[in-house]
Amino acid sequence: MTTRQRKTVPDTIRTNGASPNPWWANAVVYQIYPRSFQDSNGDGFGDLKGITSRLEYLAELGIDAIWLSPVYRSPQDDNGYDISDYRDIDPMFGTLADMDALLGKAHALGIKIVMDLVVNHTSDEHAWFQASRDRQSPYADWYWWRPAREGCEPGTPGAEPNRWGGTFGGSAWQYDPVRGEYYLHTFSKKQPDLNWENPDVRHAVYDMMNWWLDRGVDGFRMDVITLISKRIDAKGHLPGEFGGDIEDEPVGEEGYSSPWPFSMDGPRLDEFLQEMRREVFAGREGYLTVGEGQGISPKRNEAITDPANNELDMLFLFDHMGVDQRGAKWNMVPLHLPDLKHAMAEQQDAVRSKGWASLYLNNHDQPRSLSRWGDTSSPELRVKSAKALGLLLHMHKGTPYIYQGEEIGMTNAGFTRLDQYQDLESINAYHQRVDEAHVQDAASMLESLAKVSRDNSRTPMQWDDSQFAGFTDPGAKTKPWLAVNANKSQINVDAECANPDSVLSFYRKLIALRHSDSVIAAGVFQLVDGDDECIYAFTRSIAERRVLVVVNVSSKSASLPVETSLLLVNGIDAEKVLIANEDSDALAAQVAKGKLSPWSAFAYQI
Ligand code: GLC
Ligand code: CA
Repeated sequence: MTTRQRKTVPDTIRTNGASPNPWWANAVVYQIYPRSFQDSNGDGFGDLKGITSRLEYLAELGIDAIWLSPVYRSPQDDNGYDISDYRDIDPMFGTLADMDALLGKAHALGIKIVMDLVVNHTSDEHAWFQASRDRQSPYADWYWWRPAREGCEPGTPGAEPNRWGGTFGGSAWQYDPVRGEYYLHTFSKKQPDLNWENPDVRHAVYDMMNWWLDRGVDGFRMDVITLISKRIDAKGHLPGEFGGDIEDEPVGEEGYSSPWPFSMDGPRLDEFLQEMRREVFAGREGYLTVGEGQGISPKRNEAITDPANNELDMLFLFDHMGVDQRGAKWNMVPLHLPDLKHAMAEQQDAVRSKGWASLYLNNHDQPRSLSRWGDTSSPELRVKSAKALGLLLHMHKGTPYIYQGEEIGMTNAGFTRLDQYQDLESINAYHQRVDEAHVQDAASMLESLAKVSRDNSRTPMQWDDSQFAGFTDPGAKTKPWLAVNANKSQINVDAECANPDSVLSFYRKLIALRHSDSVIAAGVFQLVDGDDECIYAFTRSIAERRVLVVVNVSSKSASLPVETSLLLVNGIDAEKVLIANEDSDALAAQVAKGKLSPWSAFAYQI
């Protein structure tokens, strides 16, 4: 087992007065989607033992922490984001002993483990929900139960309390014949929302969190945590319930309205997060809390992540991920670069003096950024644009997150038929939009899925060029649960490791730079030439030290815009290049001509 020097956090990093500086202030986090990372027993599903066997790879990459997507016991309706027992591991992934072994080895290698925490909802198979179906049970009020619409026969079409639609299709209300009422599910009908107004619910969650921290985990990534406080009226009703003007509720193209406006950043969110901080984290050190931040503006991010407010360390914001979507996520449009820059800049500016940012372009819910915004039309452009997007993200201020496979330049799945998909969101959306609401025809919906389905990022990790890419044995009992990408022969860890110019080698440098350079970790961000449509440029600075980051986010040669040119008026001095995806002579020649080649990217000390 290789051990490595723990990085130190430079004094110059100041995360809004947090004292002492937390370890995550110059850390890089790596997200593992356990189903798709490494299968150890040939059943076609990744598992904990598989992850443990690959930890040396992650230690060499240099990451500081792993965010582990859910491994709890689960019926797997939403691949583990539907939990039926928070204190056990799903047999598909292994046992609690396997989890302890993973924690032990990760810690020995200097890697922290951050668990996913899914507490906006449970599985409908969770014991709490089963008990809640009985109105006399102490759990009766643990979920959002509501009667049928006035004057309607419960359980008949159209009798739902209101017109809210579930995120994964159909109504957001499901009738339960045992209780004779409907329960709210913001996601699938197997994911009933917990009633956070009930203090018993909150304390059961805090107990469970404490149990995991005592077991050795290093923090939590909190799933849709900004939806936990619902907007209810004085009588305890959710808006729009019980008839009234329900007929006037605006509905979207699929025939439903969204429950999200009634739960995003709700009235008691700060209070709940502060209570959680007190009940779970007080007296503990060295943990990380990162919330999934639907509906959180950059301004609100500043407040929630200000240590003075005792809520969360950081949040994943969404504005920058929506810039190429119009209305429904399935309506993708080409990226207009200034929109991305301005969305990022707004997030960066909001954490200038208080609060903290997380940085991501990929995760298990997003298509691969390389296919989305890079250029995969040739091997050269694929590699160069993968490095350019990596450099772009990692040079911002905040804590960068790498999603498994991003560091080797993995691409979208390339599926062309519905039966290749497994994701419930994708499959349900196809049926709803094509067969029921007729808002897209089959061919166009398949194109949408190929661009934006969550399965694009969920194909098995590509370790080598063998039949199943080293994710599972060629002699395995079953094939991988989701098809391996056909490009595994060109794109895989083995090939990347052997090549000093690979995307992987470049990511190692990006990570090392964040550890060693306090300007990269904490320097003030300033957007440059914000309206240029090809060049993404900004500076980072602390006191006298200033770094200029320049990326040509396009497949054409682009002129350096005015402000960027001025900052480079003395040309390129090789010694001042912190990192680049071209050699310094080539860069110097380009800058001398006032142009940048397709996907050229560099960070430069000015
Ligand atoms: C979050 C997760 C996503 C899941 C949803 C419901 O957005 O990242 O994968 O489907 O919450 O839990
Ligand atoms: Ca397995």
